[in-house]
Amino acid sequence: MKQKLLAALAIILISATAWAGGEAQVDYPEGYRNWSHVKSMVILPGHPLENPFAGIHHVYANSKAAAGLKSGHYADGAVLVFDLLKATSGGKAITEGDRKLVGVMQRDATAWASTGGWGFEGFAGNSKVKRLTNDGGQGCFGCHLPQKSKSYVFSSARK
Ligand code: HEC
Repeated sequence: MKQKLLAALAIILISATAWAGGEAQVDYPEGYRNWSHVKSMVILPGHPLENPFAGIHHVYANSKAAAGLKSGHYADGAVLVFDLLKATSGGKAITEGDRKLVGVMQRDATAWASTGGWGFEGFAGNSKVKRLTNDGGQGCFGCHLPQKSKSYVFSSARK
């Protein structure tokens, strides 16, 4: 009896640990360059977001995220991408340089309830596997928090 109880306890503990460890992992956004382009922005040295976001970035939305940008409500499966490249200035022009990182917000209201229903992850440079967060996305979420009324999204739909 005691052994059965201990075994049951062990199973509960193991499942609780797996849950707390956040099993859900943000997927690399395969094919995002064919999604909807939402907006672009150049962040110059001296801007509050310079570190680590200096450069030129483009924001992309998959179809569910594009619908969310219009309605303000994001269905599970919505994905937003922040594609950050170095900005090279010269000849009176700013042009794209090497990729710095790919930031991802993946919607699953249950899996990522503690970060506003979004899984946050960064992928370094052109890597699809080198992940940049080690805090379950809390650091990213902290800065997106003021956008609560827009489901933690900064970008808006425009024509
Ligand atoms: C210091 C503040 C800050 C931090 C930290 C931050 N972001 Fe953002 N993020 C922003 C801002 C501001 C924008 C809007 C940029 C624009 O208007 O082009 C943004 C935009 C985005 C977008 C496009 C969707 C949207 O909200 O407009 C994604 C995806 C994104 N961030 C992912 C991440 C990820 C992943 C992390 C952590 C690795 C992260 N962010 C950390 C400030 C931050």
